[in-house]
Amino acid sequence: MNVLILGSGGREHCFAELISKSKHCDKLFVAPGNSGTSLMAQNLDFSPIDFDLVKGAITKHNIQLVVVGPEDPLVSGIHDFIVSDPILKGVKVIGPKQQAAQLEGSKDFAKNFLNRHNIPTAKHQTFTTRQFEEACEYIENNSPPYVLKADGLAAGKGVLIIDNVNQAKDELYQMLVKSKFGSASSSVVIEEFLEGIELSCFVLTDGKNYKMLPSAKDYKRIGEGDTGLNTGGMGAISPPPFLNDKIRSKIEKRIIYPTIKGLELDKLDYTGFVFFGLILVDEDPYVIEYNVRMGDPETQVVLPRINSDFLELLFSVHTGALSDYDLKINESSAATVVMVSGGYPETYKKNMDIKGLDKVKESKVYHAGVIKEKGLLKTNGGRVLAVTSLGENVDRALKTSYHSIGKIRFKNQYYRKDIGFDL
Ligand code: AMP
Ligand code: GLY
Repeated sequence: MNVLILGSGGREHCFAELISKSKHCDKLFVAPGNSGTSLMAQNLDFSPIDFDLVKGAITKHNIQLVVVGPEDPLVSGIHDFIVSDPILKGVKVIGPKQQAAQLEGSKDFAKNFLNRHNIPTAKHQTFTTRQFEEACEYIENNSPPYVLKADGLAAGKGVLIIDNVNQAKDELYQMLVKSKFGSASSSVVIEEFLEGIELSCFVLTDGKNYKMLPSAKDYKRIGEGDTGLNTGGMGAISPPPFLNDKIRSKIEKRIIYPTIKGLELDKLDYTGFVFFGLILVDEDPYVIEYNVRMGDPETQVVLPRINSDFLELLFSVHTGALSDYDLKINESSAATVVMVSGGYPETYKKNMDIKGLDKVKESKVYHAGVIKEKGLLKTNGGRVLAVTSLGENVDRALKTSYHSIGKIRFKNQYYRKDIGFDL
């Protein structure tokens, strides 16, 4: 079959790598893709948010399956658009329909879903612009730290955790009244702070059945020791060594199973990945967020551990074959370390020559913010490369990734030297 992947990051490079190897893949396209995806697929130069161009590409290239990488097109309804267009009849999509995508698109929607289905999550209350005074009162009546979340999509920046009551009220004012995150913060969820260790679980679902994919732990902060600003992700490992059978079974029973059942009960059409952002409080799992897609860079440690034919697995969601699918997971551990341009996640320079990739033999290097110009690779974004390795344990995998990074050079490069440090 012909497949179109939407997106342009390391996650999509990793998708492209696995799908291109499938015996079921005839032609593979990525829109817009990057220099990495161009090695195994044809890049198409348009934004996934431009639905008419997506439609044009599907017809022109006779696409049977669209795999959506990032959340924006899903929250904007790409799935609904494709399946309701008479010309695109029969085209299948990996990624939920618009209403189900609200699990990521609206924190308030997600919290109501969680509470309705009795899935453990932090206690919360939602406030709109007109309820600013009430929101301040709520803060005064609760104890710090205060967790403030912009309701809508805010490119991973919409969550603030604040210790001081006055500062929390100031930030709340900026969000609710001064539109700090645009319309995304015209509604704010204030929730209880949960203390514990975070991990991410992933499933592929057809809306009724699911397969659990390998779990991961990511490192979001820019600085070593988990300090400084939040980023899209500076590294990840899989599996988290602390995830034992007892915890895994609690996660499935208390969180994953009721979530999939909840989708069915609420008649939310879902064919795709669910990414559970979890926190373990004394070994009890709580949901801190849903994402309706795979993570980046979590994908770059989860997918390399899948031994089954990845395209066959994805397509099984649309043929009723998912529940019986014999998913084969590699017992090795995986680690990825993200190399970024100095300054990221704030301002940084682009267009730096990237050297040494040809010398890396023991790791997979996934391109994110990279372009190819006149045969040369240049930086083109904050997160530039994700260097993934497998090993008999997380430690070995990390050692290999750091060794490989030693061979790669670009000006102002930065990476965290302590991924996995806390394990
Ligand atoms: P989110 O975008 O909802 O995943 O939040 C971003 C980060 O904020 C998470 O990865 C957590 O580190 C932190 N966080 C979110 N909600 C809570 C909470 N209720 N308690 C503690 N930390 C939280
Ligand atoms: N790495 C976090 C995310 O993809 O949302």
